[in-house]
Amino acid sequence: MKKILINNTKNPRRLFSSKRASIDVHTHMYLPKYMEVLKSRVDVPYVRTINDENRLVILPGEDKETTTAIGRPIGKEYYDVNSKLAYMDKHGIDISCISLANPWLDFIEGDAAENIAQELNDELQGMCEESNGRLLGFATLPVKNHDACLRELERLKTLKHIKGVILGTPGAGHGLDHIGMRDILAKIEDMNYMIFLHPHYGVGVEHYHDTGHALFLALGFPFETTVCVSRMIVTGALDHVPNLKLLVAHAGAAMPSLIGRLDSCVAHDYAIASNLQHSPSDYLKRMYFDAIAYSGTNLKGLIDHVGSDRIMFGTDNPFFPPPDLAGDEDVSSAIWPSTEKVYHTINDIDDNVLVQKILRENAKQIFDL
Ligand code: URA
Ligand code: ZN
Repeated sequence: MKKILINNTKNPRRLFSSKRASIDVHTHMYLPKYMEVLKSRVDVPYVRTINDENRLVILPGEDKETTTAIGRPIGKEYYDVNSKLAYMDKHGIDISCISLANPWLDFIEGDAAENIAQELNDELQGMCEESNGRLLGFATLPVKNHDACLRELERLKTLKHIKGVILGTPGAGHGLDHIGMRDILAKIEDMNYMIFLHPHYGVGVEHYHDTGHALFLALGFPFETTVCVSRMIVTGALDHVPNLKLLVAHAGAAMPSLIGRLDSCVAHDYAIASNLQHSPSDYLKRMYFDAIAYSGTNLKGLIDHVGSDRIMFGTDNPFFPPPDLAGDEDVSSAIWPSTEKVYHTINDIDDNVLVQKILRENAKQIFDL
């Protein structure tokens, strides 16, 4: 296993001593091995040097976008573990559960998918091991190779810092509710792993032209997650895996706003309702959520729907960087307004016990830390 040099670790005894002392469950990296893959590609997703600047082009159709420059600058904040630790120190984050950023291995098939998944997960495990307790990981699965997913899950049992897997909404290509995913989900349930469910492709993309990334990320991302979770509920897929732990990105996306309507529409469709063991809102109450709502009102709405025990601090770092953070500049001193916004919306909750739960206590309990 290749060793990653970490030069920034806090004394583990000082963990949880600061005022914030949060645990970040939604934070990404493009691991060095994945950067190699992105740099070697000509089709989206890829990393390309344009005018001396490395640019990341990952979103579907992003290379055709004409209203903004292609892609976005990609610097150390995306791939360097010491930058991640410096960012964590700056923002009072004691522990981060790192996941590979989208689009994971969705575009790689066959043996290559299996080999790269192993390398990425070993790299992640190695980084966590070196971090003095600061880092945990959600592993990546070779989703386009079904049998390799099962083998990799089995192998992950030996990687002690891995707490679950990150999955995109399509799974192997047909959705997480597709029958082809059933034994993979069952194995994940059996291992008591968390699935971190994350969007990448967007839903309603045909409506977002001439709007850069703004509508794709603000609407397309959460709609995609919402469709995926709703399908898993309504098709009965979740009844096959009643103990599956699902961490839904972006504060449950649009689920909290639409769950009442989903309950009502399902109840009025007898064929669907009679097939399900619970109402949609009951399935939602079993799921887990990050606190990335960017709105106190919405976060409180999520708490109203699912209670306060299943919501955990998250940042989506290194996405949504400060506007002046460009490329490879020193990232260790920057304050990230997007991260500060998450803290503000949590601190807006008028109940200190609940705030502490969301910042760290829930994650400690859920991940057995
Ligand atoms: N957040 C992510 O996780 N991925 C993106 O591509 C953009 C925002
Ligand atoms: Zn994310």
